[in-house]
Amino acid sequence: MPFDASHLFSNTANRMRRSEIRELLKLTSKPDIISFAGGLPAPDLFPVEEFKEISVKVLTENGAKALQYGPTEGDPGLINQLVEFEKRGGVEVTPDQILVTTASQQGLDLVAKAFITEGDAIIVGLPTYLGGLQAFNSYGAEMHGVQLDEAGMKVDALKAKLAELKNAGRSPKFIYVVPDFQNPSGVTMTKERRLEVLGLAREYNTLLLEDTPYRELRFAGEPVPPFILLDDEERVVTLHTFSKILIPGFRVGWLVTRNKPVMDKLVMGKQPADLCTASFGQMILAEYMSRGLLEKQIGKIREAYKRKRQVILDAFDEYMPKLDGLSWTRPEGGLFLWVRLPEYMNATEMFPKAIDKKVAYVVGTAFHCDGGGANCMRINFSYASTEQIKEGAKRLAKLIAEEAK
Ligand SMILES: Cc1ncc(COP(=O)(O)O)c(C=O)c1O
Repeated sequence: MPFDASHLFSNTANRMRRSEIRELLKLTSKPDIISFAGGLPAPDLFPVEEFKEISVKVLTENGAKALQYGPTEGDPGLINQLVEFEKRGGVEVTPDQILVTTASQQGLDLVAKAFITEGDAIIVGLPTYLGGLQAFNSYGAEMHGVQLDEAGMKVDALKAKLAELKNAGRSPKFIYVVPDFQNPSGVTMTKERRLEVLGLAREYNTLLLEDTPYRELRFAGEPVPPFILLDDEERVVTLHTFSKILIPGFRVGWLVTRNKPVMDKLVMGKQPADLCTASFGQMILAEYMSRGLLEKQIGKIREAYKRKRQVILDAFDEYMPKLDGLSWTRPEGGLFLWVRLPEYMNATEMFPKAIDKKVAYVVGTAFHCDGGGANCMRINFSYASTEQIKEGAKRLAKLIAEEAK
């Protein structure tokens, strides 16, 4: 009889579930399926040759340091580059207000670890990023969802939710927002909304967690100031990552907060997690940034995704059936658009039929902490080629037309 460890598992482990979504995503990796499912950047844009040359330089000039442990806070050379990068985005920070993380998923985990005791309330969007929900769930958060519209989190709904919690003697630990080209909806929160949401965070004395991996990937419209810039009380923690603007494979991101006691807790939380983010990747990124290559790369990515977004929007306009209740977002940046099907359709039930037609998406329920979103789909347009996007849109449109009543 093999050892049965089930009576020993922690509450955290007992809360963990193998994600149904990950199981569905496995089906999408078959070679003949056109996948709108993952959130993967286009691999043909990865600057492999530049990284080859820079890796050799870093190892030649600084090999021992690159292969050694580094400070928990991050490589000082990279942090200096990040201070400059933030400044170009209008955010003035000092090096001690930056913590390098093992990409932004670790940022989510560290904030959850620092703030959530089992049973604590937090506020999230309906919909919101699946990996955020997973991180918060693993610490036992009680998640309260607030609907979004085309301008971001609905302020009236947020107000009502905060008041309801207060009446019940509760106070949420933080409000989690993905304000720029949100994953999954593609929606960007307007400046007015940001100010109102921040005002409510102030009124209810809670933290604002801003997760912004897509901020730099704007193809149209005007940039909206990040929460960290609108905040004058050190109430905001902002998460960033290299994953979508450069490469996800190094697993490097960073977080920014001006709140020193919060930063101390996040650093202390990182120590037992991984001691430090791998030095080699950080030093390569620092050299890459110091040559001004990141800005150029972001420009390239923006152009490529802008083209793909146009291809998918044109294809949807051309092929989708004209149905009451069928709509999709037209994001000004990022990697995703969000399809709303007529209420009577169920994207989860339709999924096996989509796989039969050799096209894949992520079902809307994955992004809802309240089990909602059954008639929604997240569509990624960064990964597939333009030819695949056109063909995939045709297949998806056919599926939706077949489901129409
Ligand atoms: C909103 C959001 N936050 C965080 C992440 C995690 O990314 P990473 O850990 O690669 O930085 C993602 C990835 O898709 C995301 O969409």
